[in-house]
Amino acid sequence: MTLPDSVRSHASGVMPAPVIAIDGPTASGKGTVAHRVAARLGWSVLDSGALYRLTALAVMRAGIDPDNVSAVAHQAECLDVVFETGRTLLAGADVSADIRQEVIGNLASRIAPHAPVRQALLERQRAFRLWPGLVADGRDMGTVVFPDAPLKVFLVADVQARAERRCKQLKEKGFSANLESLMEDMRVRDERDRSRAVAPLVPAPDALTIDSSNLGIDETVDAVLDLWSKRRFP
Ligand code: C5P
Repeated sequence: MTLPDSVRSHASGVMPAPVIAIDGPTASGKGTVAHRVAARLGWSVLDSGALYRLTALAVMRAGIDPDNVSAVAHQAECLDVVFETGRTLLAGADVSADIRQEVIGNLASRIAPHAPVRQALLERQRAFRLWPGLVADGRDMGTVVFPDAPLKVFLVADVQARAERRCKQLKEKGFSANLESLMEDMRVRDERDRSRAVAPLVPAPDALTIDSSNLGIDETVDAVLDLWSKRRFP
């Protein structure tokens, strides 16, 4: 039997698995969209922000100064993390809820500009690229981590819509949340993520932008799947 080229090269390990990169600002819906797209395709998912949040949590717990680049990078290198369905373990303890706190998100964005921290997390992220495919969400999935991703989506939404979503999410998880202060924190975090020298939050030149301000989750998921169905891969 002759196998098609795609299967042959895949089977021989030459062809890297396809990646759909979904980047965008905080609370643009990337995480939910990435998980649903991955579920629909039967692919795995990488929530790269979780790695920055886990590093931030480890840094906070160890009492390390977030500006101490080498100490923070050391924490990133040594992260003892296990991702299970619906649970994230740090050094064996379930920290799924802890890493979702706003204080940790903000600390993550303070340590994310450090180049050695990003370098320490790079290969961990690339290790998620397995067949049949990966949906990866973050800030630099399409620009740095998977620059050859066959589909790159830049997901945006206006700050009001994003703050309302984040407020709802936090309240559902039992945290207190205030819309005005969330909007202010989001502006500061986005500005820090956009203006940093290393891997800033910018669309890759070949990314397609989806504005989800007025779209529901299902519509956004369908929009991404529609773009993927028009891609010829491999
Ligand atoms: O996406 P999430 O809000 O969980 O990310 C937390 C922070 O981690 C972001 O504000 C950003 O500073 C950083 N991050 C990053 N690169 C990524 C993912 C997250 O710099 N790929």
